[in-house]
Amino acid sequence: MSIYKIYTYPEKILKRKAKEITDINGDLQGFIDNMYETMHVASGIGLAATQVGKEKALFVADVPIDDDKRRIIAVINPVIIESEGESAIEEGCLSVPNFRIKVKRAARIVIEGYDRNGKDLILEATDLLATVIQHEMDHLNGITLIDHASLLKRDAYLKYLKKESKHDKD
Ligand code: CO
Repeated sequence: MSIYKIYTYPEKILKRKAKEITDINGDLQGFIDNMYETMHVASGIGLAATQVGKEKALFVADVPIDDDKRRIIAVINPVIIESEGESAIEEGCLSVPNFRIKVKRAARIVIEGYDRNGKDLILEATDLLATVIQHEMDHLNGITLIDHASLLKRDAYLKYLKKESKHDKD
């Protein structure tokens, strides 16, 4: 298995939109394994293919639900078919390190797509899982957490990044 580089804001590659996956083959299985590995090594709970520079409509997630259960999923070509309610959970993103904001999202969604074996998948999600899925699907549309932030917060974050990169050069 290998670990991919996760691109970070403001790298333009994050704005690329994913394309539908038409062939669920061995290469894709390897890709999904590497996506899980990359997410786990980075201690993330979700990762979209576009974050590692691949224009594939696919995300993985490993989200705690209840006290000691986790929901580990890989979804190919996800589409939201139902959404209702509103929730705003504080979110972070592996592509926007050291940045957290609350984003208004649907509280309950139903998505459809394919699982890693190419089987039809319909998944109902609420709470954190619903938020993570919507966050990852944003990535597949070239939208990153920071795009939900106010101009003021975005500016402050860019200044912070500038400062950080100066430190790196020192
Ligand atoms: Co993210």
